[in-house]
Amino acid sequence: MKSVYVFTLGCQMNVYDSEQIIRLLHPLGYSSVDDPEKADLVILNTCSIRQKAFDKGFSFLGRIKKQKKNNFDVLIGVGGCVAQQEGEKILKRAPYVDFVFGTSAIHRLPEIVRRAENGEKISDTSEGGVIIETGSNPDLPDEITPSGFVSIMRGCNNFCTYCIVPFVRGREQSRDHTEILEEIKRRSLKGMKEITLLGQNVNSYGKKASMPDFPDLLYMVSEIDGIERIRFATSHPKDLSDKLVDCFKNIDKLCRHFHIPVQSGSDKILSDMNRKYSVEHYFQRIQALRKACPEIELSTDIIVGFPGETEKEFNETLNLLKEVQYDNVFAFAYSDRPGTKAALFENKVDDNIKKERLNNLLDIQNDITKHKNSAFMNKNVKILVERQEYGEEKNFILSGRTFGNRIVHVEEPAECFIGNKKLKGEIVDVTITKTLGHSLKGELLKN
Ligand code: SAH
Ligand code: SF4
Ligand code: F3S
Repeated sequence: MKSVYVFTLGCQMNVYDSEQIIRLLHPLGYSSVDDPEKADLVILNTCSIRQKAFDKGFSFLGRIKKQKKNNFDVLIGVGGCVAQQEGEKILKRAPYVDFVFGTSAIHRLPEIVRRAENGEKISDTSEGGVIIETGSNPDLPDEITPSGFVSIMRGCNNFCTYCIVPFVRGREQSRDHTEILEEIKRRSLKGMKEITLLGQNVNSYGKKASMPDFPDLLYMVSEIDGIERIRFATSHPKDLSDKLVDCFKNIDKLCRHFHIPVQSGSDKILSDMNRKYSVEHYFQRIQALRKACPEIELSTDIIVGFPGETEKEFNETLNLLKEVQYDNVFAFAYSDRPGTKAALFENKVDDNIKKERLNNLLDIQNDITKHKNSAFMNKNVKILVERQEYGEEKNFILSGRTFGNRIVHVEEPAECFIGNKKLKGEIVDVTITKTLGHSLKGELLKN
């Protein structure tokens, strides 16, 4: 048996793709290991969303290069969004890399690896017609975790001016709903309880191909036995329909969390970003969600220092944060991406100012998150145990998420588990005993 180590950077989409890479290589005799030093094949799945992510990929390759010096037989492959963007250039910059495969070449990977094993150098970034979703192939093995991702669409048509995704993931394509349902059923039969449906903009699922729309798909997934929790990411505010809002009233299995990236609190910046909605529209959508489901937890993405962003426009973003009171915020300093419109904009914001704005924003949000977390003190919540491990003092440490999206850690003396040792994959009741900046701590509720 040969072994493969896959290193994943970037978003949930890449995590899903990495799982598919491992499944696809199984028939070639590869099994997955978690130490690159032990691998015959090392695959790097790259991300290009910001310059930092791009650079991280190359610094990983730098480390692997040393390994190749000691063991010349190890094969190195680079996939993902940087691979799609740079193609052959990667082979020039890092000549010790054996093959490069783009985001739409994943299903051709077995052939690519076979050729690389015979000494060929390969770069495959072609579109290659229909994207075959390897997730629907029941003959390949699945790694079953309590919670998993399922890709429901690929690509993006929105062309936000700062974003490289449409260039590296291609045009939006919805996956056939019967395939999606089959994949979820198969994994639920093996014990998966929570599923996160993935797409760059799940709200536009099915629209082009006159297939079921996204809310219809949610209703169908909710019918699958064994699946107890459903999540999804990500939603574009411009397409958030009332029909989707109503799902939070009608689907009990739908987790009470909505990630709804706003990017900026200024109409001028939103327009320059080509986001196609106003702050007013965004607020109105938030209100509709909260009306349908008062306990819903909200999170968002924000970019600070977009070209031309003034102090006043940045303050509008801070005001939006104070107004909405998100449960969690992911904030980023704007980063120029090659080929995007915004990279050509003038009035770039100075790096130091971007840093300052980012810290300022995070300080404000940390207080809000902390305050929101503190409301959970002494409350009982249900968590799906995703991890169960021994702590240093032979305690069990459990962690999982609430029915919203809060991470909870439970530390219990090992005796508490006598007779009921395997809690991974179970939904358990926990009383919150401590609230921290980004997570909660609790104790198992004993019956
Ligand atoms: N499809 C998702 C987001 C994908 S990228 C959506 O539309 O919401 C995740 C986040 O990275 C984005 O929401 C944005 O906040 C951030 N991002 C994207 N491009 C960026 C760039 N050039 N610089 C800084 N942050 C960026
Ligand atoms: Fe990027 Fe915008 Fe598409 Fe999201 S919707 S992936 S931010 S272009
Ligand atoms: Fe990165 Fe590609 Fe995802 S650029 S964020 S891995 S779609």
